[in-house]
This record gives sequence, structure tokens and C-alpha cells, in this order.
Amino acid sequence: MKVLMLNGSAKKEGNTYQSLLEVGKELERQGIEYEIFQIGSQPVRDCIGCGQCNENGCVFADDKVNEFVAKAKEADGFVFGTPVYYAHPSGRILSFLDRVFYSSGRAFAFKPAASVAVARRGGCSASFDVLNKYYGICQMPVAGSTYWNMVHGCEPGEVKMDAEGMQTMRNLAKNLAWMMKCFEAGKVAGVSLPETERGNQTNFIR
Ligand SMILES: Cc1cc2nc3c(=O)[nH]c(=O)nc-3n(C[C@H](O)[C@H](O)[C@H](O)COP(=O)(O)O)c2cc1C
Repeated sequence: MKVLMLNGSAKKEGNTYQSLLEVGKELERQGIEYEIFQIGSQPVRDCIGCGQCNENGCVFADDKVNEFVAKAKEADGFVFGTPVYYAHPSGRILSFLDRVFYSSGRAFAFKPAASVAVARRGGCSASFDVLNKYYGICQMPVAGSTYWNMVHGCEPGEVKMDAEGMQTMRNLAKNLAWMMKCFEAGKVAGVSLPETERGNQTNFIR
């Protein structure tokens, strides 16, 4: 089983990466593989609502969105990590995930997930809530920890000094691994996925 993580910072080895790495190391101890996918520093398009999404994902192929979607289809669990910018997730992770989920949300259904927010000082819980919204609308069970998943640090590497933040990352990994193993055991025991009812998609005028 494998967890696909997303580093929503342009910094390859900054604080968000270090926090996700702490999750990954504990996942490995629990017998679960992981990959940290780097969103990178190149431009990321936002969703223009063109409605041209297809079986391969987003119609725009000039960034890493569809590469991530292909990996997501093979993954069994997810952790999305973001630095906090002005008390919200980084613009690049929101542009990226809007296109990932609008084009390919069903690839994530029934797979457990968690979000991680990293900041110098403030805005973690608001950012954490925003990322969790992707899970709620896509039938994804959310793994918790011993605190909301937030870690504090400013200069790259400082998060390693946040002892409770790092502990929260390790407990998150244990809980996510446990959920994944339970789901796998359920599958082996013949518990089938729920049958999703669709057909009613209304707005407020019809
Ligand atoms: C544009 C920008 C906005 C930021 N806004 C906040 C903020 O609202 N609250 C905060 O505590 N830190 C803020 N920070 C600091 C980062 O969240 C912090 O340095 C974080 O550790 C960066 O993670 P990274 O190394 O993974 O990029 C901001 C940084 C930048 C570049």
C-alpha cells in the first residue's frame, strides 16, 4: 500500500517537505510506502471551468496536474501539505488541487487522507480546513492525529524544532496506516464499497 503526498510549497526541502517527511518515515515504520510529490516552482494554471476534463484529467498538459492524477489513481491514501500564505494555503496548491479534483475527483473516493499546514505563526487551522474540503466532497475518510495537523517554523528546517508538531505528524502517520490496513482487511473479508447514489444535482433556482 502506498501514500501519495503533495508538497504545496515551491521549496523542495522547506518546512512543508520536512513535515511530510516525518509522516513518511513513520509510514515506512508501519509498513506503508510513500512518495512526496513536489508541486515545484514552475507556473501552475488555475481552473478556468472550461468543462473539457477527460479520462486523462485536465485538458491543459503544460504542468504536473495530470502526472499527479495518474499517481493518485494508483495510491491508497493521501497527505496534502501546504505552507500558510496570508492565513490560507499556498495559491499554487489551490490552483493545482482545483484542477486535480474537478477533472478526476472520483479517483480519490473511499481512500483515506489528511492535510498538513505549516506556518511561522498563524493561519494553520484555516488552511487545514480549506484542504480538508477536497476530501469531504469526494467521499474520502479523514485521518486525525493528537492535534490538528499543524507544524511551526519559518526558515527551512525550523519545523524539526517543533516537538509537538513532529509528534502530531508521527501520530497522523500511524492513524492513516491503521485506517488503510483496516480498509484492506475489510476488502479481503468481502466488505464492498458503498454504492453511491447520483442523479440529483440541483442549484437554488431549479
Ligand atoms: C507569501 C508568504 C505569506 C506568508 N504568510 C504567512 C502567514 O499568514 N502566517 C504565518 O504564520 N506564516 C506565513 N508565512 C511563512 C511561511 O508559512 C513559513 O515560512 C513556512 O514555514 C514556509 O514553508 P516552506 O518552507 O515549506 O515553504 C508566509 C510566507 C510567505 C512567502
